[in-house]
Amino acid sequence: MTASPRTSAEPAATPAAGVSAAQAAGEQAVTDEVVASFASSKTERYRQLMTSLVRHLHGFAREVRLTQEEWEYAIDFLTRTGHITDDRRQEFILLSDVLGLSMLTVGINAPTAGSENAGATESTVFGPFFVDDAPEIPLGGDLAQGAKGTPCYVSGQVRGVDGTPLAGVRVDAWEADEDGFYDTQYEGVQMQGRGWQRTGENGEYRFWSVLPTHYPIPDDGPVGELIRAAGRGPMRPAHLHFKVGAPGYRTLITHVFVDGDEYLHNDAVFGVKDSLIGEFARRDGGTGPDGTRREGQWAQVEFDLVLAREETT
Ligand code: BEZ
Ligand code: FE
Repeated sequence: MTASPRTSAEPAATPAAGVSAAQAAGEQAVTDEVVASFASSKTERYRQLMTSLVRHLHGFAREVRLTQEEWEYAIDFLTRTGHITDDRRQEFILLSDVLGLSMLTVGINAPTAGSENAGATESTVFGPFFVDDAPEIPLGGDLAQGAKGTPCYVSGQVRGVDGTPLAGVRVDAWEADEDGFYDTQYEGVQMQGRGWQRTGENGEYRFWSVLPTHYPIPDDGPVGELIRAAGRGPMRPAHLHFKVGAPGYRTLITHVFVDGDEYLHNDAVFGVKDSLIGEFARRDGGTGPDGTRREGQWAQVEFDLVLAREETT
């Protein structure tokens, strides 16, 4: 089959060192033929995605002079990634996270700096531990539901970038317990450390939960193998997740990170942004922000959630 000619925007790859011009031309012909096979794609976007994917994949193989054994290893790696994935474990999301693809995609799709959405809370990775049938927790209620840890009062206001308080908006929050595990990582445990509530009339939310702890991402599968081979660690700095959606606003997926955590500069999934580091005040006894009598250690953080306007184009 004859390959369709490259356009001037699609230059032939520069041959790798030690590769003859004839060899390079043969390799380029393979790429051109595959790219051309997507010319009649059902949508222009599909054609663009697939041809760019093919070009970059082929470019990678050419650049590193991919061996047959390395290709087989990669296929086996992806096969194992699929086999370990089920409705409680999403190894592909984890793979995307440790490769920084999740954070890159977040950055591409939720820009805040220098736009009309400047001032909106920054976004970060979703992670694999969200569940959508978490319990509703009333304002001021207990989201821990038995999760182990130092009690922590979490509160703030949900508002739009223009300062409008957003009342009646659903705020989801979820976190690991003090041993670094989400409820879904335990066999047969009821939902803990997760829930949602609707903001009050001034956009306020508030609940008791536990002080977040740093924890390792699941590293007993192929992704753990990948990060160990790189000499990297599996830890995530302590954080609490939020998901907030309101009509006319971009759904915000973010965390508040605990100030001073030792992994803030070494997050396995590259999710930390300075603006997301909260001040967690540590207290001992006394009266809680909600007027309750507190015994022993507890903590408190205030973190406003500022939503960006949804793009209308
Ligand atoms: C999390 O924060 O829940 C998470 C994010 C990325 C990978 C693993 C866990
Ligand atoms: Fe997390």
